[in-house]
Amino acid sequence: MIHYLEHRRTWIIETDQAAYGLGLTETGQLIHLYFGESLPYHTDYPEPRDQHGWASFNSRADRNPEEYTGWGGVRYSEPCLKVEFHDHVRDLVLVYKEYVIQDGALVITLRDAHYPLEIRLNYKPFAELNLIQRTAEIVNTGEHPVDLEQVLSGELHLPAENHYRLSYLSGKWAGETQLRQIEMPDAKFILESRGGTTSHQTNPWFAMDPDGCSTEDYGKVFFGALAYSGNWKMVFEKRFGKIKASAGVHDFDFRWRLNAGETFAAPAFTIGYSAEGFGGASRQLHQYQLEYVLPRQTVRQDRKVLYNSWEATRFDVNEQDQIRLAELAATLGVELFVMDDGWFGRRNDDHAGLGDWTVNPEKFPNGLRPLIERVEELGMEFGIWVEPEMVNPDSDLYRRHPDWVYHFPNRVNSEMRNQLVLNLAREDVKQYLIGCLDRLLTENRIRFVKWDMNRLFSEPGYLDAPYEQQREIWVRHVRSLYDIVETLRKNHPDVHFQSCSGGGGRVDLGILELFDQVWVSDNTDAYDRLFIQEGYSYAYCAKTMESWVTAEQHWMNNRRLPLRFRFHVAMTGVLGIGENLHAWSEKEREEARGYVEAYKKVRSGIQNGRQYRLQSPKNNPVSSVMYVSEQQDTAVVFAFLYGNRNGDELRPLRLKGLDETKYYVLEGTEQRRSGKAWMSVGIELELKGDLDSCMLVLRADPSPNQ
Ligand code: GLA
Repeated sequence: MIHYLEHRRTWIIETDQAAYGLGLTETGQLIHLYFGESLPYHTDYPEPRDQHGWASFNSRADRNPEEYTGWGGVRYSEPCLKVEFHDHVRDLVLVYKEYVIQDGALVITLRDAHYPLEIRLNYKPFAELNLIQRTAEIVNTGEHPVDLEQVLSGELHLPAENHYRLSYLSGKWAGETQLRQIEMPDAKFILESRGGTTSHQTNPWFAMDPDGCSTEDYGKVFFGALAYSGNWKMVFEKRFGKIKASAGVHDFDFRWRLNAGETFAAPAFTIGYSAEGFGGASRQLHQYQLEYVLPRQTVRQDRKVLYNSWEATRFDVNEQDQIRLAELAATLGVELFVMDDGWFGRRNDDHAGLGDWTVNPEKFPNGLRPLIERVEELGMEFGIWVEPEMVNPDSDLYRRHPDWVYHFPNRVNSEMRNQLVLNLAREDVKQYLIGCLDRLLTENRIRFVKWDMNRLFSEPGYLDAPYEQQREIWVRHVRSLYDIVETLRKNHPDVHFQSCSGGGGRVDLGILELFDQVWVSDNTDAYDRLFIQEGYSYAYCAKTMESWVTAEQHWMNNRRLPLRFRFHVAMTGVLGIGENLHAWSEKEREEARGYVEAYKKVRSGIQNGRQYRLQSPKNNPVSSVMYVSEQQDTAVVFAFLYGNRNGDELRPLRLKGLDETKYYVLEGTEQRRSGKAWMSVGIELELKGDLDSCMLVLRADPSPNQ
C-alpha cells in the first residue's frame, strides 16, 4: 500500500511488515525518512525536515538524506545523477514536480529547475516479500541533447546506528560467491565491476545489519540487489555518522548522449528489510526470483537432471562418442543431455572457431540430427553450448569482419583465451548473432542453451560510432545481449537458457529475467563447492543453481570425494552430472542411478521450496541446508561432515521452517514427531569419519496423534 499524507508532504510505502517513508522538506528537497519495521499509524513516521549545515564545510543540501542526489550545488556525497547540458553547464538542480500512484507503484517526478530534464523515480512494493523495486528514468523533455555522466538506480539511507556490518559476496574464477563480512568503515567502500560483465570478483548484492549482531534467524537485515549484467557499482558511504548505499550502472568510462525526447532507464535496484535475520532476507530474494524475476514461461517447470559433456570430452566431441555418453547418461535417469564446447566451426581447441556457429562437418558429418534423434529416443532432451559474444581471430567470422570487435587503432587487441569480444553495440553484429542462433534453434530440436562468456572486455573502442556515443558501448552491449536472448526466447519458447561466464561470472537479477539457471562455478570439487553454494544462496535461489557431479579425484585440488558426498552437494540445487561416465564402474553407475531417482522424488521441494541454512561450512564440523515445501508438508535436509575424530560428539541437527504442530515422519525410520520437536530437539546424525553426508526426508503425517 502506498499512502500520501498531504499535510506532511510525505509518502509511506507499506509492505506486510516493513515501511519506507520519503517526503519533501521545507525547502522542497525530496528526502528519505524511514526504512524498517512498519509502524501502527502513519503519523508515527518522521516528518521531512531540512538538516542544518553546521560549519562552512557542511551544507544543508549535503546533509539531507536525498532520495536521488543530483550532482550540483554544495553536494559532495556519491551522486545518483551527473550530467552536462548542451551549453556545457554541469550543475544539476533537481526540484519536485509531481507524483502519481499507478499499477501499484509510486512514481515521483523531479525536474531540473531550469533545463528540460526529468527524473522519474519508481517505487514498486512487493507486499508479502517486504521488498521494494526501485528504478529511475532520465527523460530529456527538451530539444537539445544532454550528456549523462553518471546514472545510478537509487540510493538507500540506513537508520542511524552505532555501526553496521556489511555482508557481500567476493570471489574469483573457480571460487565465486564467498560470503564476506566487515564492519562498515567511516569512509567509502565500493563493490564494482569494470570488466563489461557482472564479474567473478564481486556480485551486485549486499546486506547490512545494525551493530553486526543479526544472526541467521534473528535481527534486522537491510539488503539490496541490482538487476544488471554489465559494469556496475554499489557505493557504501558513511558521512555524518550515517550510511547510504547507492547502486547502479558504473560511471567508469561511461557517457551517454540523451537526445531530445529520449529516456535512459536505469536498471532495477531491489531493496528489502528482514526482521528474521539473514535467512529471512535470503528467502525474500529467493521468492522474488521465483515469483517475479525468472522467465515466466518456464519458471513453474522443475529443472531437469542434466548431463554435460565438458569435463568428459572437452573439445573432442563427435557423433559416436556423444551418442555413447548419451546412452550411458540415459541409464542413470538423466533427462537432458548437453553437448558442451567443440561442436562448431574448426573448434578443436580454444584457438579457433568462436564466431562460426555452424556444425563441424568432420565431427558431425550428418549434422546434429542423428545425435539429437538418438538422445530423444533415449527419452532425453538435447542441449548445446554457445559463446555468442566472442570471436577467435582464427575464425571465418573474424577474417570477414575484423572490425566487428571492440578495438582501438594503434593498439593491440589483447586476447584472453585466444578470443576477442564482439562489438554488440553494432546493430549488424547483433543481427548476425540473432540470425545464427535462431537458425541453430530452428533447424535442430534444441531445448537448452548454455550461453557462455569466457573473457572480460579490453580496448573498448568503437571509433566508427559518433564521438559522443563511443562510451555507450558498455551499456549497449548489455542491452543487446538482453535483446538477443529475449528474441530467441520469443521465437523458441520451449528452450531453457543457462547463464555461464567461466562459471559464475554472470549472475545477477538482470540475467535471471532471461535465463532459467546458472552455472555457478567451474570448480566442481564438492567440498569447495559448499562454500561457493552457501554464498550463492544469500542472494539467489536453488532453482537457478546448477551443480554437477564430477570425477572422484578433482583436477583442481586433487581431493578425493566419495560419490555420495559429490551427489549430495549437487542435489542441493539443480542436479547435473559432468563426469566421464565411461570411467564409472557398473557399481558406481548403480549407486548414481539411486541418487538421481531419489533426487527426482524431492527436487520440486528443493527447487521451489523455502531454503534454510542450518549450519555453515565455515565454522562447523557439519554443514547443513534444508528445504521446506510451500505447504510445509515435506522437508529435505542435507548434512555434510568433513572430518571427525573418534569420540567427537556431533550435536543434533535442529531443523527450521516446519509447521510446529504438524507431525512429520522421518522417511526410512519409525520416527514421528511434531515440527516443533524436530526444530527444538533435532535429529541425531549418523555421520562418521571423513567426508560423510546424508539426505533426510521428512513428510507430514496427517494421521491423528498416537
Ligand atoms: C567455460 C565454462 C565451462 C565450459 C568451457 C567450454 O570455462 O565455464 O563449463 O563450458 O567454458 O570451453
